[in-house]
Amino acid sequence: MSVLPVDYAIRPEAGEPFLQADRSTPCLLVIFGAAGDLTRRKLIPALYNLLCERVIDEWFAVIGYSRTEQESEAFRATLESAVKEYSRTQPVDPLVWQSFAKRIEYVRGSFEDPEGYNALRQRIDVLEQGFGTGGNRLFYLATPPAAAPQILHRLQEAGLLYDSSDETPWSRVIMEKPYGRDLTSAQELNRIVGEVLDESQVYRIDHYLGKETVQNILVTRFGNTIFEPLWNRKYIDHIQITAAESIGVEGRGRFYDQTGVVRDMVQSHLLQVLSLCVMETPISFAADDIRDKRVEVLRSLRPISGDGIEKSVVFGQYRGYRDEENVDKDSRSPTYVALKCFIDNWRWQGVPFMLRVGKHLKARMTEISVVFRPVPHCLFGRDDVCQTLDSNVLTIRIQPDEGIDLKIISKQPGDSLQVGTVEMDFSYSDAYNHPIKDAYERLLLDAMRGDATLFARRDEVEHAWRFVTPILQAWERATDRYPAFYAEGSAGPVEADKFMHRYDRKWREIV
Ligand code: BG6
Repeated sequence: MSVLPVDYAIRPEAGEPFLQADRSTPCLLVIFGAAGDLTRRKLIPALYNLLCERVIDEWFAVIGYSRTEQESEAFRATLESAVKEYSRTQPVDPLVWQSFAKRIEYVRGSFEDPEGYNALRQRIDVLEQGFGTGGNRLFYLATPPAAAPQILHRLQEAGLLYDSSDETPWSRVIMEKPYGRDLTSAQELNRIVGEVLDESQVYRIDHYLGKETVQNILVTRFGNTIFEPLWNRKYIDHIQITAAESIGVEGRGRFYDQTGVVRDMVQSHLLQVLSLCVMETPISFAADDIRDKRVEVLRSLRPISGDGIEKSVVFGQYRGYRDEENVDKDSRSPTYVALKCFIDNWRWQGVPFMLRVGKHLKARMTEISVVFRPVPHCLFGRDDVCQTLDSNVLTIRIQPDEGIDLKIISKQPGDSLQVGTVEMDFSYSDAYNHPIKDAYERLLLDAMRGDATLFARRDEVEHAWRFVTPILQAWERATDRYPAFYAEGSAGPVEADKFMHRYDRKWREIV
């Protein structure tokens, strides 16, 4: 039996990829919530770029479905301006756009009304014939997760879903985060989804997994021999993961105020990045082998609950957040969180993982920094002098300025023994001519090809909630506690710095 992901083939010849990503298979993509922001900002520009690169099969069509009253012509016009505004590649190629636009249709309907689904079915029949999509259907739920059960049941009643994810024709469903609000609601959502779909048909998107630099974490770790021997409690002092955003809630006040940063970023993106960073070696690069290892990490996270949040978590909120549209004037929703967690397994016992994420910070910067232990014995002077030397730090820069750098200690030229820190730097933009694609390009293509490696599995989502839910509950119960306020454009609340100082460590600078 092959251990390779679906639709990949080994290309062992020099210069050829190890795993060759094939083109998509023919399919019809139906987007629910087609009038929303995600469709305009991400999905349609991503599809446009895939068409530019000719990796999407020509037997392809899109139907947008939403409540908004409009004709296909108007829908296409909105999408054209969206591509002009948000496409990664510019200027927009009119020929590619025209060929894409011909494949886009719009169906108006609500999520609950069976009539809408009848209209959808008729349009699907027409497009499947017209564009030879072979009956393969990919449904993208670009909707609030609460709408998912209803949509799935209606799709099933309308006979639009098949049983299979791989045999042709197939049907698959991509779901957006957040999957529920806590462990119970996530389990319930998964249960309902499981009544309608086989797990192999469910593609739970976490766009961080589609980022080029996030995919490179495993290649860096397992494609080199030099890291693995050091990748453990013996050599690593702690690991910091930072996801700093310079933007605020960007008109999403209502959603954000009910969600907060822990649900929005930690439960999904940060825990995924952490898992890739610390997971054990999978037996192959096949989807479930990798996902099994990611799940093990989530299962090993030491729970933080009750009073534990006092010691291990700092919640922050940027000043001015409460003046954002649709945000409660007394809101306690955190827009920033810093937390310390541990992974209870052989490799990582006792190593603190410091996670930090927030909005309206000084700069956009997502990175993982692996901070190594200091040298055990000082040769260059008194021991206290050596203690002032920087530790070795390996930083994986996820975005922007994608790359990896390693801080090492070096002798400064001259007759005296003067030592200092230097950096070895690999930058994607210097090393490669390829532009870095948007994560949605990769993820849409993978879902069309049936490769679920970069999507979250049911148990993965639930284990992430299992860790995060007690933290949320403790915070929501502590109604007399307020988030620590921080100024827009700062590095976050001072409490987060003090929190780090308590452990005799300091955050990396946000630059
Ligand atoms: C989304 C969150 O999932 O990720 C947003 O809902 C956040 O609040 C965004 O801004 C960050 O994504 P990126 O790719 O810009 O780091």
